[in-house]
Amino acid sequence: MIITLHLKLLLLFIFISSLTNTSKLVFAKEQYNVSEVCKVTRYPSLCIHSLEPFSLSEGRSLSNWARVGVSVTIGEVKSVQAYLTRLKRQGHFKGRNKVALLDCIETFQYALDELHSSLSVLRRLSKSTFSTQMGDLNAWLSAALTDEDTCLDGFEGNKERKIKLLRNQVLKAYYITSNALALVNKLATTGLGSISDLDP
Ligand SMILES: *[C@@H]1O[C@H](CO)[C@@H](O)[C@H](O)[C@H]1NC(C)=O
Repeated sequence: MIITLHLKLLLLFIFISSLTNTSKLVFAKEQYNVSEVCKVTRYPSLCIHSLEPFSLSEGRSLSNWARVGVSVTIGEVKSVQAYLTRLKRQGHFKGRNKVALLDCIETFQYALDELHSSLSVLRRLSKSTFSTQMGDLNAWLSAALTDEDTCLDGFEGNKERKIKLLRNQVLKAYYITSNALALVNKLATTGLGSISDLDP
């Protein structure tokens, strides 16, 4: 009888302290609205334009914004990749342009892989591995930027209209990736307070 009562009290105590812990962590998470968070990026108006549809009235934590930023980047890179693949299928790119286009499709695939790796890290952030995770994210997102930039190498000095259009698409993906990297770097420097898991 007594033991059962003790057990019940113990369970109640554990339950209450878990509630208290959780709410402390929730309140420790600082919320940012889209214009605040985009201030840390190099292309703030593009940032606001691309992230605004995902803003919440109560704001989002930095880790949340970083995840949104990388997801949005994946969407953008996929759409450029689909565009490049369409150009290849249409067959209007010949000779040097064709080689450059095929290279571009390849480098965009690398970028996409690096972005997917980044997103999966952002989905399982934890306090115990935070600094390693931030290092990985920085490396992958920087590599994605390099890959997107490398895509343009083969078209250098080319003033054709269709190349100008391609360059604009690729640059937009590059700028959006750069913004996502800035959000991740802000998360890395501001850090742990924006993570909501309960691991030590
Ligand atoms: C974002 O927050 C800042 C200050 O906290 C506020 O001045 C600004 O109006 C807010 N912007 C939006 C779009 O809610």
